[in-house]
Amino acid sequence: MRKKFAFVLLLSLVRVVFSATDPGDLDILMQFRDGLENPELLKWPENGDDPCGPPSWNHVVCDKSRVTQIQAQAVGLKGTLPQNLNKLSMLKNIGLQKNQLSGKLPSISGLSNLVYAYLDYNNFDSIPAEFFDGLDNLQFLALDQNNFNASTGWSFPKALQNSAQLTNLSCMSCNLIGPLPDFLGSMPSLTNLRLSGNRLSGEIPGTFNGSALQMLWLNDQLGGGMTGPIDVVATMESLSVLWLHGNQFTGPIPENIGNLTLLKDLNLNSNNLVGLIPDSLANMRFNNLDLNNNQLMGPIPMFKTPNVTFASNKFCQATQGLPCAPEVMALIGFLDWVNYPQRLVNSWSDNEPCNWVGIRCFSGKVSIINLPHYNLSGTLSPSVAKLDSLSEIRLQSNNLTGPIPENWTSLKSLETLDLSDNNISGPLPKFSSTVKLVTTGNPISDGHKTAPSNRDNTPSVSSDSPPNSPSSSLKGSGSTPTDSSVESTKTKSFKRNTFVSIVAPVASFAVLAFLVIPLSIYCYKKRKDSKLASTSLVIHPRDPSEDNVVKVVVANNTHGSTSTLTGSGSASRNGSSIGESHVIEAGNLVISVQVLRNVTKNFAPENELGRGGFGVVYKGELDDGTQIAVKRMEAGVITSKALDEFQAEIAVLSKVRHRHLVSLLGYSIEGNERILVYEYMSQGALSKHLFHWKSLKLEPLSWKRRLNIALDVARGMEYLHSLAHQSFIHRDLKSSNILLGDDFKAKVSDFGLVKLAPDGEKSVVTRLAGTFGYLAPEYAA
Ligand SMILES: *[C@@H]1O[C@H](CO)[C@@H](O)[C@H](O)[C@H]1NC(C)=O
Ligand SMILES: *[C@@H]1O[C@H](CO)[C@@H](O)[C@H](O)[C@H]1NC(C)=O
Ligand SMILES: *[C@@H]1O[C@H](CO)[C@@H](O)[C@H](O)[C@H]1NC(C)=O
Ligand SMILES: *[C@@H]1O[C@H](CO)[C@@H](O)[C@H](O)[C@H]1NC(C)=O
Ligand SMILES: *[C@@H]1O[C@H](CO)[C@@H](O)[C@H](O)[C@H]1NC(C)=O
Ligand SMILES: *[C@@H]1O[C@H](CO)[C@@H](O)[C@H](O)[C@H]1NC(C)=O
Ligand SMILES: *[C@@H]1O[C@H](CO)[C@@H](O)[C@H](O)[C@H]1NC(C)=O
Ligand SMILES: *[C@@H]1O[C@H](CO)[C@@H](O)[C@H](O)[C@H]1NC(C)=O
Ligand SMILES: *[C@@H]1O[C@H](CO)[C@@H](O)[C@H](O)[C@H]1NC(C)=O
Repeated sequence: MRKKFAFVLLLSLVRVVFSATDPGDLDILMQFRDGLENPELLKWPENGDDPCGPPSWNHVVCDKSRVTQIQAQAVGLKGTLPQNLNKLSMLKNIGLQKNQLSGKLPSISGLSNLVYAYLDYNNFDSIPAEFFDGLDNLQFLALDQNNFNASTGWSFPKALQNSAQLTNLSCMSCNLIGPLPDFLGSMPSLTNLRLSGNRLSGEIPGTFNGSALQMLWLNDQLGGGMTGPIDVVATMESLSVLWLHGNQFTGPIPENIGNLTLLKDLNLNSNNLVGLIPDSLANMRFNNLDLNNNQLMGPIPMFKTPNVTFASNKFCQATQGLPCAPEVMALIGFLDWVNYPQRLVNSWSDNEPCNWVGIRCFSGKVSIINLPHYNLSGTLSPSVAKLDSLSEIRLQSNNLTGPIPENWTSLKSLETLDLSDNNISGPLPKFSSTVKLVTTGNPISDGHKTAPSNRDNTPSVSSDSPPNSPSSSLKGSGSTPTDSSVESTKTKSFKRNTFVSIVAPVASFAVLAFLVIPLSIYCYKKRKDSKLASTSLVIHPRDPSEDNVVKVVVANNTHGSTSTLTGSGSASRNGSSIGESHVIEAGNLVISVQVLRNVTKNFAPENELGRGGFGVVYKGELDDGTQIAVKRMEAGVITSKALDEFQAEIAVLSKVRHRHLVSLLGYSIEGNERILVYEYMSQGALSKHLFHWKSLKLEPLSWKRRLNIALDVARGMEYLHSLAHQSFIHRDLKSSNILLGDDFKAKVSDFGLVKLAPDGEKSVVTRLAGTFGYLAPEYAA
């Protein structure tokens, strides 16, 4: 009898211990229910007290009397969670994703049995710092799409790194700020890391080197985004999905990205990646490869993968598989070793190096690299040795390190190599004695750098022009043609050995006089008074094949001495012979801002001619009375769109020339200044004469005049569309962009929206831009 009683007691004890829900857990579940605005959605029994059952309640899973899971995803729950949720100490799996839970997310710290935590897609507004403490067994954590700590942002606390089992970590659009925590790179089990749509900044930390991640999403960081190079991703050999788009990553795509043999989905679009597309990338096969909107250069390779897009980059050719000119490749090599400074990347973006900032050509071959005071940082590339025609390399006053490449000694046309005031070291290679080497201001070991100085009797130009004269610092921004030392040296070498070969065939005394006299005056003045160093000589070469004019500006800004500008209407028609001379080379239209300040009386309001979306146009007058129009971008509007338009305008106008298109006389890029200089159009915009003639007290346009204007515009457009080297579409042809000169001859202006006409099948679908009604109808259609 006693025995039987004891057995029954034991049974009931067993029942109590193993079946009834732990009172602590029950309490938390009740608090959970009470915190909800719509607890009825849980369908829990009204007065029940045994969620573990059997039968257990909806959304609850127990192990014996302990709650191990709450699974209530996408139920529509509204309300807050109990702050002591972590008292459910046996909890293994919590799934509350896709509800409308709000308020403060409770800490789950200390839940050492927790493996799965899905709290994503709710409206929680804060996350406690201790949330991540002691989650020893956590493997899957999703916090995406919650508005945690919105005002300050937040970052993963270090404690998370103790969750050594963590495999999936997902916190997209959850207000993370600051750098990507470096411990994430060394978490041993982490394979899926998804942090898109936050406000992360800074670089991918070095700890990600060799990480076993299979999926990494860092795309679309707000407020600028992540920066720095992406080299480290090429070491993450397990990657199959890598999304880095919508950031500001810089530098080239790593050569060894081909090591990522499992990679199937790669988004690098909308960053600032530069350089060549590595062969190894072109040889990979992807389900998706997106390279759009970067600054990738060089040729577009023949990709092995069909699923690739690469629009809006800086490739030298528009067609896949076409190589770049060898000179372009050599110069990209140079750019690579100086780490792709943005100013050069912007300019060095086609297959015509003669038009690039800092490069000058002679007879269509690259003959001068002229980038003094350019803040170049990096080393000198051996690829420059491939530029056979180089006669001058001027890289003084930069921040260049390392040795002079041995094979630069094979540059057979080299006359001048100025590397003064850098940080060049190492042994000096043996250059031919005809090369004028300037290496002062470098920790370089050498014995023979003074040897070549007895070539002629002219004093060394580079040593007597103060390296930091106002003129040269103004030119830091690439207004290289105004570098007076170049001009003088060129004059010198002109005298020395090219006089006969260049000038004699041209046999034009007029040309010689036209060139040499102003030059000599200029050089003479320069020597006489070094304060006049801010004098600028700007030469406007044009394609010698075009029957048009070369412009020469000699503008002196200090004492208002010689200023001449030969406009296209009035210069001698000697373009071709001038184009051949050794003094003037094609390619650059850069004018120093100082010169423009002087001719516009420091952009005086009374000189304002008008305003556009892009800036203010000022009238300028040179000393000889020539009038020019100076369009200055307002600092406040220097957006990337405005810069694109600025670039487009230069790119187009330096390629097209027509009597019914406004001529670009030059431009300035210095610091924040972006200025375009045009010929002056005395009667202003057509719109003025059509719509405001009464208020401006102008004579109404006669029908004959109107017809002539229409014809002029049509001729200009015909040229743009079909007669120039390339076809252009204006996209903003309206009366305010048609300017009238003396005699009401009309010219089309404002080329900021001009687009190269897409040629057939390879055209990339781009968004239609421009002003409707002012577009060529066939383009709009
Ligand atoms: C979020 O904000 C709360 C208070 O607003 C703060 O206590 C908490 O530490 C913050 N969370 C993190 C992870 O910094
Ligand atoms: C982990 O992440 C991967 C990739 O997003 C996903 O396919 C997988 O279902 C996740 N695993 C768990 C258990 O959430
Ligand atoms: C990654 O680590 C290896 C070995 O330590 C090192 O050689 C390599 O340069 C690193 N790569 C990057 C991109 O940091
Ligand atoms: C990655 O690629 C580079 C060259 O493409 C190669 O030298 C290197 O050995 C590769 N790394 C590994 C770990 O395979
Ligand atoms: C990418 O290529 C694969 C295989 O060729 C194809 O099935 C898939 O639809 C393509 N995806 C896209 C986005 O073009
Ligand atoms: C020069 O380069 C350094 C880094 O290379 C950069 O921080 C600095 O802003 C640059 N200065 C100018 C004037 O561009
Ligand atoms: C210069 O050197 C580089 C490597 O050092 C080599 O690739 C290149 O072919 C050389 N160029 C010339 C013209 O010798
Ligand atoms: C010069 O280059 C070094 C590294 O090459 C860099 O740390 C330094 O900031 C640079 N200085 C300037 C003024 O650009
Ligand atoms: C010059 O270059 C050396 C390495 O070649 C470097 O250690 C030093 O810091 C550099 N000096 C400056 C001023 O950049």
